[in-house]
Amino acid sequence: MVDKIKLAVIGAGSSYTPELIEGLVKEKESLPVGEIAFHDVDAARLEIMAGFCRRFLHHLGHEIPIAVTTDLRQAVEGATFVDVQIRVGGNAQRVLDEKIPLKYGVVGQETTGPGGMMKAFRTIPAMLQIARVVERHNPGAWIVNYTNPTGLVTEAVTLHTRAKIAGLCSGALFPRWRVSEAMGVPEDSVRYDYVGLNHLSFAFNVTVDARPVTDEEFDRIAEVAARGFMDPAILRNLRLIPSPYLQYYFHTSKKVKELKARTLSRAEEVLALEQEAFAAYSDPACDTKPEALAKRGGGGYSEIALDVMKAIYAGREKTIIVNVPSRGAVKGLPDSAVVEIPCRVNAAGIVGLNVAEVPKSVWGLIAAVKNYEQLAVEAAVTGSRDTALLALLAHPLVREYDVARPLLEELLEANRDYLPQFFA
Ligand code: G6P
Repeated sequence: MVDKIKLAVIGAGSSYTPELIEGLVKEKESLPVGEIAFHDVDAARLEIMAGFCRRFLHHLGHEIPIAVTTDLRQAVEGATFVDVQIRVGGNAQRVLDEKIPLKYGVVGQETTGPGGMMKAFRTIPAMLQIARVVERHNPGAWIVNYTNPTGLVTEAVTLHTRAKIAGLCSGALFPRWRVSEAMGVPEDSVRYDYVGLNHLSFAFNVTVDARPVTDEEFDRIAEVAARGFMDPAILRNLRLIPSPYLQYYFHTSKKVKELKARTLSRAEEVLALEQEAFAAYSDPACDTKPEALAKRGGGGYSEIALDVMKAIYAGREKTIIVNVPSRGAVKGLPDSAVVEIPCRVNAAGIVGLNVAEVPKSVWGLIAAVKNYEQLAVEAAVTGSRDTALLALLAHPLVREYDVARPLLEELLEANRDYLPQFFA
């Protein structure tokens, strides 16, 4: 029996918080949480979410006291895990990340391309601040990060602080969901090798109950995994299951056209969904997850977080896909390069497992995007416009100087209030 722990949730005003609460209740036997501290810079959202989560816990038949604070140190002190899920500038800034690149014929997306870079620029300084508080006041704690872009955020934290961090994304479960659906088998019978970066990952060597899938079965998986994102012929040819975000690389022009044709960008849709969700959360009679939450993209959010916490704290060692510095696991990338790979997670921490071979067909793409990511992390920390420009020149979705330069200027200007490092 393990002792009860404290969990800190930074960015607790996020509409995803109830999913985490639900996960905690589901796992209450294996990970007994005796205390939760909610922190957010938005005191109003924080109060609403705390009120709702108390009712939700009660509805689920489980009581955990939720303390609310806007003092980071207070939230972090004594916590075994510090769950971080912040969005600097909110979805309002995300609208600009998605729309401005489109004016230049470039993909506009939350995490992929120049939009993701701007999110990294806004987020990394705040994330480093959180990590430094953890490092100073509770160095034994693990940061469990869901803040996007999770790969870049994790790389910044591991480069510039000694805080322990697990960079997570529910996207790592995507191949499992699709294989299970295509084959009609339980999710836990599915295994695969996996390599790449966050939102630039590939699953391969798929097995079901330890039996490699046949070519015919893979073709069926390809149909299901590509659905709504890309041409299944790509998967059949690669013999890989790419993250859905590869649609922006394999169908770039088509996606730019589709994004331009939308009446509302995804962030505008999310703003409306958030309004709906928060109206429900504010209602003192509401004690179940609002419908609007199911229309968000972060399904499976708490599953990996809980798996990581159980493996580290409760002796449930497991191989889990996490964003970690490569440290030799992916040959040819710098040791500091954060990669999304299967890791051995246990009480001793998180160690990336060696990737025997990165598929040749996508090696160049992974290396190029990693190159962009490393430059973007450097620019986020130093506030150097020159480095930011180099990052866009290295990005396969931008690359052209004549596009990158004015695009960068406009993006920086649109983010002026959130980027003191670039406007000092
Ligand atoms: C997926 C991705 C997340 C992303 C989310 C967007 O879950 O893995 O990284 O943040 O989708 O969902 P949204 O509802 O905000 O568009």
